[in-house]
Amino acid sequence: MVRDGVLVVGSANMDLVVRVERFPLPGETIFGTDFKMFPGGKGANQAVCCAKLGQKVRFVGKMGDDLIRERLSASLEQAGVIIDSLIVDPVEPTGTALITVDKNGENEIVVVSGSNMKLRPADVDGVHDIFGSAAVVLLQLEIPLETVVRAAELAHEQQALLILNPAPACSLPASLLRLVDYLTPNESEAQMLTGIPVTRRSSAEAAAKKLVDQGVKNVLLTLGPEGCLLVNSSRAELFPACRVRPVDTTAAGDAFNGALAFALSRNEELDQAVRFANAVAGYSVTKLGAQRSMPTLTEVEQFMQQLAV
Ligand code: RIB
Repeated sequence: MVRDGVLVVGSANMDLVVRVERFPLPGETIFGTDFKMFPGGKGANQAVCCAKLGQKVRFVGKMGDDLIRERLSASLEQAGVIIDSLIVDPVEPTGTALITVDKNGENEIVVVSGSNMKLRPADVDGVHDIFGSAAVVLLQLEIPLETVVRAAELAHEQQALLILNPAPACSLPASLLRLVDYLTPNESEAQMLTGIPVTRRSSAEAAAKKLVDQGVKNVLLTLGPEGCLLVNSSRAELFPACRVRPVDTTAAGDAFNGALAFALSRNEELDQAVRFANAVAGYSVTKLGAQRSMPTLTEVEQFMQQLAV
C-alpha cells in the first residue's frame, strides 16, 4: 500500500477570543478591546496547518450535533482537510475555548472539552484501516488519554511515524512514550512529564534527555522565542526561533506540529523539518486567531526569504 499524508486524531473547539491590555487579577473586572470567534482546537489547528501547506490530511474527531460543528467542519474543509471520519455525538456540545490575548500576544486559555472527551478507543478502532495508509500520525492530549494510547498503538502496528504533542500536559504512561517517534512538549509540559523545572537551556536538555531515556526517539522541546531544542540518543541541538513581533501566540505550538508533520511526511531531513516548523510557528504568531493564522506554503516561503531563514 502507498503511504501518504497525515492522519490527525484529536480535538476541535470554537475559540472565543477577547483582546485585553493586560490579564485581569483574580476577582478583578477589566474591559476587553474586542471579541471574535475563530475555529480552533489543537487537533483541528494542526490538521488545518498541515493541509494549508499542501499535504493530504485526514481528521478524526468528535463534535456535537450543533451549529458550532458546522462552522468548524467548514473551516477544516476549506483548508482541504478530509473529514469523512468525523463522528457526531448526539448529547455533548462541540468543544469551546475561552481565550484572552494581551498586548504582548501572550494568551490564557480555558477549554470546555464537550464532545472531544467522548472520542473513545472504539471510535479509532472503527477507522483502523486509515492508519495503514498514513505516513505520519499526529496526536495531542485534548481527547481521552486511553484514546490517544489506542491511536498510538495503531500507528505503531501500521508502521506510521508518530508525533505526539503532549498538550495540555498530563503524566503519560511509559508504554505510550516508547511508541513515540517525535514528542513535542513546551517548557511547562516537559516539566510536567519529567518533574524537572525547565528554566534554561541546561534544564531543558536534562528534561529532554530523561524522556529519551524513557524510550521517546526524538524530543523537540519548544522554547517559545528561544526556538526548539532537539534531543535524541546521539545529539542535543538548539534551532533558533524566527525573530518576529508577536500579535497572538495562540496555536504557535499547533503551527509547529502541523508543519513538522508536513515536512516529515514528505521525507524531509529532520534538521530541515525543524527549521521549517520554526518558521511556520513564527509566521503564525504574527496573526490573530488559531486556524486563520496558518500560512500556505507560498506564504511561509516568502516569510523565510524575508527573514533570510
Ligand atoms: O493550541 C491552541 C488551541 O488550544 C486553541 O485553538 C484552543 O481551542 C485550545 O485547544
